[in-house]
Amino acid sequence: MKRSSILALLLIAVLALGFAGLASAQDAAPSGDLEIFSWWTGGGEAAGLEALIARFSEMYPDINVINAAVAGGSGVNARAVLTTRMLGGDPPDTFQVHAGEELNALWVAAGLMQPLNDIYEANGWMEQFPQGLLDLISDDAGNIYVVPVNIHRSNVMWYVPANLEAWGVTVPTSWDEFVNTTCPALQAADITPISIGENWTQVHLWESIALGTLGVEAYNGLWDGTTNWTSPEVVHTFEVLGQVYDCANDDMNALTWQDASQRVANGEAAFNIMGDWAAGYFLVDLALEPGTGFAWAPSPGTDGVFMMLSDTFGLPVGAPNPGAVEAWLSFLGSAEAQDLFNPVKGSLPANTTADISNPDLYNAYFQSAYEDWTTNEIVGSLAHGLVASPAFSNGFSNIIATFQSDRDANNAAVTAATLALQTLR
Ligand code: GAL
Repeated sequence: MKRSSILALLLIAVLALGFAGLASAQDAAPSGDLEIFSWWTGGGEAAGLEALIARFSEMYPDINVINAAVAGGSGVNARAVLTTRMLGGDPPDTFQVHAGEELNALWVAAGLMQPLNDIYEANGWMEQFPQGLLDLISDDAGNIYVVPVNIHRSNVMWYVPANLEAWGVTVPTSWDEFVNTTCPALQAADITPISIGENWTQVHLWESIALGTLGVEAYNGLWDGTTNWTSPEVVHTFEVLGQVYDCANDDMNALTWQDASQRVANGEAAFNIMGDWAAGYFLVDLALEPGTGFAWAPSPGTDGVFMMLSDTFGLPVGAPNPGAVEAWLSFLGSAEAQDLFNPVKGSLPANTTADISNPDLYNAYFQSAYEDWTTNEIVGSLAHGLVASPAFSNGFSNIIATFQSDRDANNAAVTAATLALQTLR
């Protein structure tokens, strides 16, 4: 054989070996550390995340999951840590972020998220997630940036039926009724009419009051610029918040959302407004029965409206282990994962092929929420990142904190108007 032929053969052999090596590296199961960043550290929230991690670890034994959850309801602390890490070039592999403006106005706008369309197509998810939800997590070019794990409802009023009966009150259907009838009746009986927690839960309460007093169109108008923040109707939302504060516990700033929910469960307070992670808390932490141990209604004035939010995870630019993240996200969006997570989390599955109609998996609370989700008008939550940029949300938290001490509704509305001008797209 000529020397040149021998060289050619050698070259082919080397190339073939090289391709084989490459192929086996690509086919190899993902391995290494996978850091999952969230704010799910307790109760039903942690139980849901742990159920996901347990199953994922069975499927991918070579991936070492690091559960990097930072405590603090609604992510108040986690988001600050995340921002520092993202801006410092030290992103976690994947992180919890709300669908809507919390994702879009910040991380997507900054070019820090990777599109996930391949994962959606490979899993057939374009047909499995509601289009309205996909719209919230996509840009105008059709890039989809995250995988939703659930649908939560924000506008829920929680109570214990036997307690209301003993105290001779019924669930109020308007804030006017709550303030003028329910609250004085309960105060006369020495019962706290409504339990309220720390600052973010007050923003959460305000969004329910705003929806219940303004109605859907004017509530939506706050976010698209068609409702005037200084109008008497919007000023009134703050006035009502002030009246509701007067019906609540004095130690609100020292209470987590779980503390405030617990006061309803143990009969210290009659009502609480919270998202349906409270159902997860009642079911998992307190082991209560839906319908008797705890019950629910749309927050006053919001019957027929479902204020939604969605928890999602994505793949940040510069994630240390993208292969493991892709495996995690492919699992997270599956019906199997969603059916492990949501029954303990208190939320509905976002993947429409999940087993929501199975009452053994999804109890009476979920059946009722699902009925509303599929028949109600849908609006988005402010307190949980859907309708407004983080810049607005952060500023609005300060407005609520100031209002809590000075009770100046006009000032709150004027400050919010200025903030909206500066921070809403
Ligand atoms: C929300 C989040 C929920 C739950 C809640 C309380 O922002 O979407 O999943 O974690 O905070 O922590």
